[in-house]
Amino acid sequence: MKPVIGAHHEFHDEEFVAGWADRFVPTPERLELFNVILSELRSSIPKDGRVIELGIGPGYLAEHLLNAMPGINYYGIDFSSPMIEIARQRLGQHSARLDFVQADLVKEAWWAGVTAPINAIISTWALHDLGSQENVERVYKICALALKDDGIFLNGDFIKPDKAIYEYESGRFEIAKHLEILNRAGFKNAECLVVLEEEIESPTAAQNYACFKGII
Ligand SMILES: C[S@@+](CC[C@H](N)C(=O)[O-])C[C@H]1O[C@@H](n2cnc3c(N)ncnc32)[C@H](O)[C@@H]1O
Repeated sequence: MKPVIGAHHEFHDEEFVAGWADRFVPTPERLELFNVILSELRSSIPKDGRVIELGIGPGYLAEHLLNAMPGINYYGIDFSSPMIEIARQRLGQHSARLDFVQADLVKEAWWAGVTAPINAIISTWALHDLGSQENVERVYKICALALKDDGIFLNGDFIKPDKAIYEYESGRFEIAKHLEILNRAGFKNAECLVVLEEEIESPTAAQNYACFKGII
């Protein structure tokens, strides 16, 4: 039987989370994704803009952005206390510009704990973990509403490549489907900015990711 490409996570388990954070220290490819997001933020939000990161995890993207953009204010959303604890420690020097909201992205009103206006909502490697295309679409819709009139949405996440020869877990789906649901959620001119670590023949669960952009 062919494998299903995906990963099993225990994000509420301290030991698993510490191991995950050690295993996934950013590689050059992931830094390329972080830099795509950085460059989009630099050109589209005010210097003191407000940024929400969905599924902040150990805080690698947050650290990259907070170092590079010294005026932004940052909100990290995650449902995992051990992840938030690791991120809090990593980002200690930025604590004056950083708040955490512990919430489930699908089941809880995470946006309610964030001061408006929000200039950007971003995420990497997280929304596929919501378990289905329907849940990703739900979050895309909430993001479109939270960004109101003038915001940017950037999601760098795992996809199912068009030429896939394996099944993929349901949170990983095709680029065209992401663009379709971003447009349906209310984003204008949704586009795919980059595809990274494309691998068709023998993919691991940490390959095949893309960065999507939507403007309100
Ligand atoms: C694979 S990790 C990626 C972490 C980080 N974004 C990165 O790129 O290094 C996914 C993160 O999303 C969080 N997460 C997964 N499902 C979630 C949900 N339903 N609500 C809130 N956070 C969730 C996990 O706790 C974890 O921190």
